Amino acid sequence: MQGEILLKNVRLVDASGDRGPADVLIGEGKILALDGGNAQRTLDASGLILCPGFFDPHAHLREPGQEVKEDLETGLTAAARGGYTDVVSMPNTTPPVDHPEVVAALIKKARQIGQARLHPAAALTQGQEGKLLTEAKLLKEAGAVMLTDDGKTNEDAGVLALGLTYAASWGLPVSVHAEDAGLRRGGVMNEGPLSFRLGLPGNPSAAEAARIARDLEIVRYVLERQTQDARHDPRLHIQHLSTARGLQLIRQAKAEGLPVTTEVGPHHLTLTHERLESLDPVYKVAPPLRTQADLEALIQGLLDGSIDCIGTDHAPHTQAEKEQDLIRAPFGIPSLEVAFPLLYTELYLKRGFPLATLIERFTDGPRRVLGFRPIHLEEGHEASLTLLDPKSERAVDPAGFASKAKFSPWAGWRLSGWPVMTWVEGREVFVHPSFAVGA
Ligand code: DOR
Repeated sequence: MQGEILLKNVRLVDASGDRGPADVLIGEGKILALDGGNAQRTLDASGLILCPGFFDPHAHLREPGQEVKEDLETGLTAAARGGYTDVVSMPNTTPPVDHPEVVAALIKKARQIGQARLHPAAALTQGQEGKLLTEAKLLKEAGAVMLTDDGKTNEDAGVLALGLTYAASWGLPVSVHAEDAGLRRGGVMNEGPLSFRLGLPGNPSAAEAARIARDLEIVRYVLERQTQDARHDPRLHIQHLSTARGLQLIRQAKAEGLPVTTEVGPHHLTLTHERLESLDPVYKVAPPLRTQADLEALIQGLLDGSIDCIGTDHAPHTQAEKEQDLIRAPFGIPSLEVAFPLLYTELYLKRGFPLATLIERFTDGPRRVLGFRPIHLEEGHEASLTLLDPKSERAVDPAGFASKAKFSPWAGWRLSGWPVMTWVEGREVFVHPSFAVGA
């Protein structure tokens, strides 16, 4: 038992804004007070920011079967270090997570590990083969929070329509990796003059836009087919948005009132396709890094709320896999441990993106998408919280990652705003080693 801790003079920031200093007493799993009190330990938290715990709607933790890349212990520890209290794991494992017993086993194991909390997504189709639906009801009862065939694309529109309908009747959102397989083909980078010059197979932005347009049409169709006496609105979540055109389609759909949400990854907000000139697979990701115009549009979409949240798409691979040539190396960038300081530095410090909005997109935004209650910085509320040090500037050093994937496209970038402590229901799951919490 860690006992109570008092954070003296800590700055509270949440979706409502910068709420200024408070003396926050944490104990019994809750925020006990915002105006001080008796505690076993006191921390002078002047200059530090306290916010609700981060929630990642999209991470690849690779269990079961791909533990050589990552496992629950390393993945959830990486998450806690990144300030995350909650993580949704993707089901594109070996075998895919398509059975309620596997969902239950993952949750049990994650509880024993006791780092960030795990909320598994389960496959939408059996074996993620895109043909037969999984058992939405049983998966939900076992603890799955979302259905998705992420990692793969849903090529059969009829299966997706049926999947959205069944998932809706059990209150589950469906998320999609929105890329048209035919247009994407073997593309390893954004298609355009640069991919032509480099002689590399391209993945056009039309692959994403065409698939988003189709999937939005499927949502309209599912809504129209509902009968008045059995209304269960489908919820479509579009993963890792990468293009301005895709964003435009989602913005229109939201204006129309369609039940659609989306996320963006830290890489699509900070890196562009020119990085691929290096031919370094560290920049290889699906969907690919796009143009500066896409990046600017995504930042605008994140600002105006067309994009609901940040999803890391943390995608660990082994060093040996990632060190192959660009054609052979797998897609994916690990980012749980850098996502917040990266966007704090690149969006807030360098571009003046509002801090409270940025924090909302890491906290309430993803919880809303998944149907979780927000965490309030108020007396009596759950102490699943993140403490940030806005002044701690240091370079990204992948060798020090808790994740097994010790590579990063941001290696050497000097960032501020690092998480220094993370609590899950009042339990300290991460304390930065340089950060002494005295008695
Ligand atoms: O870059 C990616 N990596 N995109 C995906 O959709 C899958 C992911 C992975 O599983 O490695």
